[in-house]
Amino acid sequence: MLRLDGKVAFISGAGTVGAGWGNGKATAVLMARQGARVFGTDINATAVEDTRSIIATEGGVCHALQCDATDSEAVKRAVDACLERFGRIDILVNNVGGSAPGSPVDMAEDVWDRQLDHNLKTAFLGCKHVLPVMEKQGSGAIVNISSVAGFAHQVGGRVHVAYSTAKSGLLGFTRSTAIAYVQKGIRCNLVVVGTMHTPLVEERLMKQLGPEAAKDLVAKRNAAVPIGRMGDAWDTAHAVLFLASDEARYITATDLVVDGGLTAARPG
Ligand SMILES: NC(=O)c1ccc[n+]([C@@H]2O[C@H](COP(=O)([O-])OP(=O)(O)OC[C@H]3O[C@@H](n4cnc5c(N)ncnc54)[C@H](O)[C@@H]3O)[C@@H](O)[C@H]2O)c1
Repeated sequence: MLRLDGKVAFISGAGTVGAGWGNGKATAVLMARQGARVFGTDINATAVEDTRSIIATEGGVCHALQCDATDSEAVKRAVDACLERFGRIDILVNNVGGSAPGSPVDMAEDVWDRQLDHNLKTAFLGCKHVLPVMEKQGSGAIVNISSVAGFAHQVGGRVHVAYSTAKSGLLGFTRSTAIAYVQKGIRCNLVVVGTMHTPLVEERLMKQLGPEAAKDLVAKRNAAVPIGRMGDAWDTAHAVLFLASDEARYITATDLVVDGGLTAARPG
């Protein structure tokens, strides 16, 4: 089940900020465990090298390349490098993203522009350069990474209007791309990620709040999710793996919400 033997996976943001597991890093390692040859890119060369080294230690195959996913020429060069090394691209995971706080009034215009580039244009550029490869092959699976922040505003939470806009924009982008390529053997889907507990979050909270308050906040965040806890990067990675796998061959233009029931619940 869910084997990726013979497939090549091109994953952007395949490192992680800080120690532990981010969504792209977990996805890269999981896909390698399932037999894929992974081409991981990241703006941070050390971070993606760490992912490569984990995969190599486990006996998998990964090539790591420093690449800014907002830079069209750099993405094209990375796609060409992947083709040179592995000869094909079966799976594209557009994982780069992250939020900056701000409302329409207090967010600077350049922050708005950068947020849209970071969260939306990165998926556009990944598709722009990989789709012709998949079209030539007559097959391919694309998974874009969104956030529940694009679909519901957390009551009392911080406003990040550009992030929310970009992440909900990914739904339209995914559906439109999926239907445009549905007759060409290419599927395109979206994973909508909920509140994930990463070591980085804990480390940051510890520093900002101290151990006691950080523990309280983590407990509150866990309690806010109907399933009773936050998810982690592996929950995201398993959803991405499924949508990228042949077992999901009849699934395209859809969104898979991985949030422990968060967006279906409302404050009581
Ligand atoms: N962590 C969460 O709780 C959460 C929740 C919802 C959605 N998401 C989404 O999941 C995705 C991954 O987030 P994460 O928290 O796992 O991230 P992360 O910070 O652990 O990893 C992201 C990686 O992307 C790289 N990166 C940043 N800018 C880049 C660029 N311009 N080009 C190439 N690489 C770049 C970083 O160096 C980092 O290694 C994002 O799209 C994010 O919006 C995360």
